[in-house]
Parts: sequence; C-alpha cells; structure tokens
Amino acid sequence: MSALRGRFIAFEGGEGAGKSTQARLLAEALRARGYTVVTTREPGGTPGAEAIRDLLLQPPGQNGWPAQAEALLFAAARSDHVAHLIRPALGRGEWVICDRFVDSSRAYQGAAGELGDQAITALHAFGSDGLRPDRVILLEGDEVILADRLAKRGQTADAIEGRSAAYHRAVVAFFRELADADPQGFASIDGVGTPAAVHERILIALEDLVA
Ligand code: TYD
Repeated sequence: MSALRGRFIAFEGGEGAGKSTQARLLAEALRARGYTVVTTREPGGTPGAEAIRDLLLQPPGQNGWPAQAEALLFAAARSDHVAHLIRPALGRGEWVICDRFVDSSRAYQGAAGELGDQAITALHAFGSDGLRPDRVILLEGDEVILADRLAKRGQTADAIEGRSAAYHRAVVAFFRELADADPQGFASIDGVGTPAAVHERILIALEDLVA
C-alpha cells in the first residue's frame, strides 16, 4: 500500500442530527492540515446519482415506490457514486467525506422499512462491492432537540423525512445497534451542543486516522 492513503469517512444519523454541518467542518479542518478532501452526499454525489435522488425524494405518481424499488434505487445511486466518485478519489489518495452511506440504507430501508439487513447488505455487495467507510461518525441526539432543529430549518419534508415518528425511531435505534456491534468501525458522537463543540468530539474520534 502506498504512503498516500485516502480515508473514507461517512456521517450517519437520523434527521436533524447535524451531519451536513459537521461534514463541512471536518473537511475544513482536514484541508487546513494539508489533505485533499472530497465532500459528497447520498443519495447523490454524481450526476447519475443526483438524478436518482430526485426520483427517490419526490417519487413521480401517487403511490410512491414499493419498498423494494426504493432500496434498489438507493443501491443504484450508490453504485454510480462509488464507481465514479468515491473509489477514484480514494485511489488518488484523497479523503472522502460522505453525508450518509450504506448504513442509511440498512437503517431506513432495512430496519425501519422492514426489508431486513441481509437484503440491503446483499444489494450493496452487488452494487458497490461491499465498500465500507474507514470510520462511520454516528451523530446522536435527543429526539425532541433534533425535531426542534428540523422545525427551525423550515423546509418541507421530502418523501422519506415525512414518514412517521415510529419509522424514524426505528432508524435511530438501528444505527445504535450497528454502532454497538462494531465499535472499531463506528464512532458514536453526542450531537448535542454547539457545532464547534461537536466538531471537537469528532476530531478526537478520528485522531488515529489523521497522521
Ligand atoms: P437529505 O435531504 O439528504 O436528508 P438529511 O439532511 O437528513 O441527510 O435526504 C436524504 C433522505 O434519504 C433522508 O431522509 C434519509 C434518506 N435515505 C434513505 O432512506 N436511505 C439511504 O440509503 C440514504 C442515503 C438516505
């Protein structure tokens, strides 16, 4: 392996957890240390995946996607994103910071959507060769505080954000299960506090990966 080693960091968490802000702050901190950093998001990140994003978040027609089609579309978007953006950047030795990745599919479609973890993991193995982040930053926080943050954002909910409180609770609970099962792969971060305070926690959780 060459000395030049890109790292792949994914931010995960429920709605309103502060992932986008923290992804941006981490990218800035790494750039200040001289790293080349690519920031991206899912669903999306490449023209093909962004087109699929629109289909997912604003489904055409009245019925929405069947659960299986939704999972396939997320996996298809991810396949394009991994092939055209993430793997090439890692191959160049760059850092990739991604706002959501496959664990969102495991939590939303697999757990809350009841398709099961095996199905989602199999789609990821087929679509993206099972690529895993070097570390997942799981941002957690009190349900009430996060709901309040979302309300203050004031955007209308998309097709997934607008699902029931029980659905979103199942998402958050499954993220916790994933983190508990893989303490090396996940860093659970308390997302409550000022952006700067949460950012400090994240830097500490990544100390071993930052040379
Ligand atoms: P986005 O506006 O990016 O939401 P957020 O700011 O909360 O990250 O919309 C992405 C939505 O798609 C969000 O509700 C989570 C959902 N999602 C899945 O259901 N499965 C997935 O695999 C991914 C990546 C996202």
